[in-house]
Amino acid sequence: MFCWKEKMAELKNIEEAARQRNYIEKLKKYLEEKTQGQPRTYYIETLGCQMNAKDSEKLAGILKEAGYREGQKEEEADLVLYNTCTVRENANQKIYGHLGQIKKTKLQRNQDMTVVVCGCMMQEPDEVAYIRTTYPFVDIIFGTHNIFKLAELLYRHEMTKDTVIDVWEGTDEIVEDLPAVRKYPFKSGVNIMYGCNNFCSYCIVPYVRGRERSRLKEDILKEIQALSEDGVKEVMLLGQNVNSYGKTLETPVSFAELLRDVTKIEGIERIRFMTSHPKDLSDELIEVMASSEKICRHFHLPLQSGSDRILKLMNRHYTKEHYLELTEKLRKAMPDISLTTDIIVGFPQETEEDFEDTMDVVRQVRFDSAFTFIYSKRTGTPAARMPDQVPEDVVKPRFDRLLKEVQDIGKEMSGRDVGKVLPVLVEEVNQQDKTMVSGRLTNNTMVHFKGTEELIGRIVDVRLTDSKGFYYLGEKA
Ligand code: SAH
Ligand code: SF4
Ligand code: F3S
Repeated sequence: MFCWKEKMAELKNIEEAARQRNYIEKLKKYLEEKTQGQPRTYYIETLGCQMNAKDSEKLAGILKEAGYREGQKEEEADLVLYNTCTVRENANQKIYGHLGQIKKTKLQRNQDMTVVVCGCMMQEPDEVAYIRTTYPFVDIIFGTHNIFKLAELLYRHEMTKDTVIDVWEGTDEIVEDLPAVRKYPFKSGVNIMYGCNNFCSYCIVPYVRGRERSRLKEDILKEIQALSEDGVKEVMLLGQNVNSYGKTLETPVSFAELLRDVTKIEGIERIRFMTSHPKDLSDELIEVMASSEKICRHFHLPLQSGSDRILKLMNRHYTKEHYLELTEKLRKAMPDISLTTDIIVGFPQETEEDFEDTMDVVRQVRFDSAFTFIYSKRTGTPAARMPDQVPEDVVKPRFDRLLKEVQDIGKEMSGRDVGKVLPVLVEEVNQQDKTMVSGRLTNNTMVHFKGTEELIGRIVDVRLTDSKGFYYLGEKA
C-alpha cells in the first residue's frame, strides 16, 4: 500500500544520507592534505549487545570511506572510538578504565589523537557531564540516535579543534544507506527495528535507545538481498524485542511474516534473530521456524526470573507457567532446538523462595547456556526506587548457586550431539591451534576441527567426535 508519510520519511532520509556522504568526502580530502597521503588509523572498542556491534560496523564503514585504516592497537591509533553500554554498572566502569589508560597515551605520546565516545552511556546527561570534567581530552561525544553523523562531527572537530557534543534525546529518523564494514564477509547483522517500548522496570535500554521503530519490510528484504549478492550466507535479524516487529508500522507486519519472506531470499542459508520477548512469542512464529531449515535451531528467550511475583515487579507480562509452556512448544515443534536465556539474580525484594522458582525453571527447561547477571541498579528506572534492595552478601551466594546449576546442565545439554554429522559454518582459523578451524552449528554451538583457511565462509559437514562442555571437537566428514 502507498503511504505518503512513509514516502516523505524515506525522501528525508535519502537527503540526509547524501548530506553525510558529502561530509565523508570533505573529511577525506582534508585528512589527505593534512597527513600528506599518510593513512590514518582507527581503533574501535565496542561494549554491550549486538545492536552496539552493528552500530560499530556502521561507524567503521564511515571511517574507512573517509580514508582511515583499521589499526590493531588502541594506544597506537590516530582515532580511538569507544561505543559504550550502560546496561549494568560494570559496563560503565570498563569505559572509565579505558579512558584512564588512553589519557596517558594522548597526553604523553600523541596529542593529535582523536578520542570519540558514543553509544548508550552518552544518552545519560550525568555521564556526559562527568566525562567533560574528568576526561576533558575527549574530542567528540554523541549518542545512539545520530551515529550516521560521525563524519560531520569529525569534520567539525577538525575545523574548530573544539570538543564536539551532539546527543539527541530521541528520534523518529532511520538513516540507512551509508557505508558499513562487516567483521565477517559471510555473515551480517541486520537491524529490523530500533529502540524498545517494554520498560522492564530494571532496564535502562528504553531510555537510552528511545521508542520502538520498525524498519519497512521492503527495506529489510532489499538489504538482505544485497548482502546475499555480496556473499553473505548468514543473517542475524536484530532488535531489542524482535517479536513485536512491525506492530507500529503504518501497515502492520508480523515478525513471522518478515521471517517467512527472508527465508525466500536465495543465497541466504542461515537466519538467526535476537532478542525475543516471551510475552510476544506467537504460535505463527514457531510454525514458520519449524517449516524452514534455513532458520537456525536456536532460540534465545530471556527468562529474567522464575518467580511470578518478581516477574510482575519486573513488568515482564508473563508468568513462570507461560514461559514453561513456550519452551515446551518450541521443543515439540523442533526437538533439536537449543534454548538459551538471560537471568537476573537479586532483583529488589527477591526472597529465597523467589530464587528457588528461578532455579526450578532452570532445572525444568535445561538451557544449553544462560547469561546470568547480578541485578545492577540503574538510576532513573522504577526498580532503582523500589524498597528492599537485596544486599550483596545475599545475592552473591545465590548467583554462585545459579551459575553452577546452569553450567552443569549446559555441559550435559551441549554434548548431546556427539557422534552425529552436522553442518558447520566455518568462521575462522582457530586462535590457539592454526591447523584447525572454528565454526558454528545451526544451534550456535562452536565446533573446532582440522582444516585450513579456504574453508572459511563455507558450510561443511563435520562429525562431532568429542564434547568439551561448551564446544565440540570434530573431523570433516
Ligand atoms: N532486549 C533484551 C535484552 C537487553 S539487555 C530482552 O528483553 O531480553 C540484556 C540483558 O541484560 C537482559 O536480558 C537482562 O537479563 C540484563 N539486564 C538488563 N538490565 C539489567 C540490570 N539493571 N541489572 C542486571 N542485568 C540487567
Ligand atoms: Fe530492556 Fe525489557 Fe526492552 Fe529488553 S525488553 S531492552 S530487558 S526494557
Ligand atoms: Fe548496552 Fe545499549 Fe545494548 S545499554 S545492552 S549497548 S542497547
